[in-house]
Amino acid sequence: MSAPAAGLLPLLLLILTASAQPVDNIDALFNWIRGLGGEVHAEVKVDSNGVRGLYATKAIATMENIAAIPSAAIINAGSFLESFSVPTLTVLREWKDPHSRFKPYIDTWPGPDAVLNSCNMAAKYAPMWKNEHWEKTALEWDSFLLSLHNGSMNVDLEYTVKEVVGNQPVSLEDLRYACAISSTRYVSTTRRKRLLMAPVFDLANHERDCDNMLSTYEGEDFLYFIAAKDLQPGDEICYSYGALRDDYAVAHYGFLPRLEDPPRLSLVDHRDFKPDVPYSHDEPPSEEPFVGTPEELRAELQRLRSIRNHITGTPDALPPQPRGQDPIYDLLKDLEARRLNAIDYEMARIEGLLRGKEEL
Ligand SMILES: *[C@@H]1O[C@H](CO)[C@@H](O)[C@H](O)[C@H]1NC(C)=O
Repeated sequence: MSAPAAGLLPLLLLILTASAQPVDNIDALFNWIRGLGGEVHAEVKVDSNGVRGLYATKAIATMENIAAIPSAAIINAGSFLESFSVPTLTVLREWKDPHSRFKPYIDTWPGPDAVLNSCNMAAKYAPMWKNEHWEKTALEWDSFLLSLHNGSMNVDLEYTVKEVVGNQPVSLEDLRYACAISSTRYVSTTRRKRLLMAPVFDLANHERDCDNMLSTYEGEDFLYFIAAKDLQPGDEICYSYGALRDDYAVAHYGFLPRLEDPPRLSLVDHRDFKPDVPYSHDEPPSEEPFVGTPEELRAELQRLRSIRNHITGTPDALPPQPRGQDPIYDLLKDLEARRLNAIDYEMARIEGLLRGKEEL
């Protein structure tokens, strides 16, 4: 089986489960960035709900810099054309090296217990997705990292574990962690299609409609994080990590975004989802409510009903757990409830449309 290629991942990845993040090392990070010639006009604070976020420290006008992130502070972790062993091993090397020149950045990464995505969810959780695409994805990541660890893929890899980190011991858990760190925090700009791990902007919380942006990072030694509207000192600074439907956010970032009203269908439950076409943040599924002829509406209703039946008809692969014992189990059960909720909402909406048409 081929290794998951970086190209299968979206162009913009990154998000942290806000509350799990320490803030202690942020001052050191920002001072390091300034020392390298960069600018940061923001600070990290924890709000009254315990959620960490990025806040403006001065008035920043539209199109001014929130931060200027110097190239020297960016880990270039590979390209979309290579296998994901490249970013995984790049992160592993820096993380294992006590003298890494990226140390102030690395010190702000969540620890192995605080980062979660498809790279480090154990295979036993795979059937809990109750969806063929996500189950397959989970098992592919698992098998990819096992093969990277046991060396069976070495001949086809760009770099092997030993070539990158030498003879020091590397556990499967180390690889899972490095994979999760790199895949949750790379960014790629429109002009520079590399897996760039850039500090600062990744501290901003996700808001789907947020317009603050990153510069194209071409011909300059800075990646600029730019305000899309005027910010006052103390304003929270957001960033949009993409359409981030619930299932996608869980698979790639290990968290459920804020519940929206009306609820949004998961990526795999959306009529635009095509299992064979790699998902791209540039072409997310339509946000427009489905409309059509009565026949099309009935077909969509039937499609949703069969997904619903599949979810409710698939028994849990793991025994029931009291809430709070197993965060991954809880997350996947919460996702399941979100999927059903969105499907029920959409089915009721379509039934309403059909009733309206019959009355005409
Ligand atoms: C390495 O791991 C892969 C994936 O689990 C497995 O298929 C393969 O048999 C393993 N090879 C060795 C030499 O252990």
